Amino acid sequence: LVLRLLAAHRTQVELRSLELAAAKIVVAAAVVREGKLLVQQRSYPMSLAGKWELPGGRVEPGETEVEALVRECHEEMGVVVRPLGRLGPDIPLPGVGLLRTHTAWLDAADVQPRAVEHRAVRWVAAAHLAGLDWVAADRVLVPALVALTEQV
Ligand code: CDP
Repeated sequence: LVLRLLAAHRTQVELRSLELAAAKIVVAAAVVREGKLLVQQRSYPMSLAGKWELPGGRVEPGETEVEALVRECHEEMGVVVRPLGRLGPDIPLPGVGLLRTHTAWLDAADVQPRAVEHRAVRWVAAAHLAGLDWVAADRVLVPALVALTEQV
């Protein structure tokens, strides 16, 4: 009986680690400059086109979250960012994993992000953040984003 219980426990532990392995992290960047937050407007898929989100994307195998954030910002906007630390809660992304946000600085003060993969890139003041048509996960972050944007 003891052996059978141990075996059952081990199966549960293995299933649990499979679940954790499957919970993919999507990293997002909260970049603030001169009292404004950098946001992007999605161009795809159709269901999300026109909605606003923080820059970011999936952490690839073998990559740290910070590396993924730097890579995604470079791919999406042609800029180099320096991640500073976590912001706000992890947000569940149904069927995908977890959205985890880091604050980040733009490497150079004069550089302008471009919309490479998105429809538009915009700098938005704290007072206008709540009024954006956010994707669902990012909307949860709005209070944390307003607080961050007001303090910088
Ligand atoms: O480029 P990659 O496929 O790595 O990432 P993505 O397609 O931009 O995002 C992966 C998933 O995270 C999608 O389901 C996005 O909708 C979601 N996401 C999000 O909810 N909020 C963000 N700021 C970025 C991505």
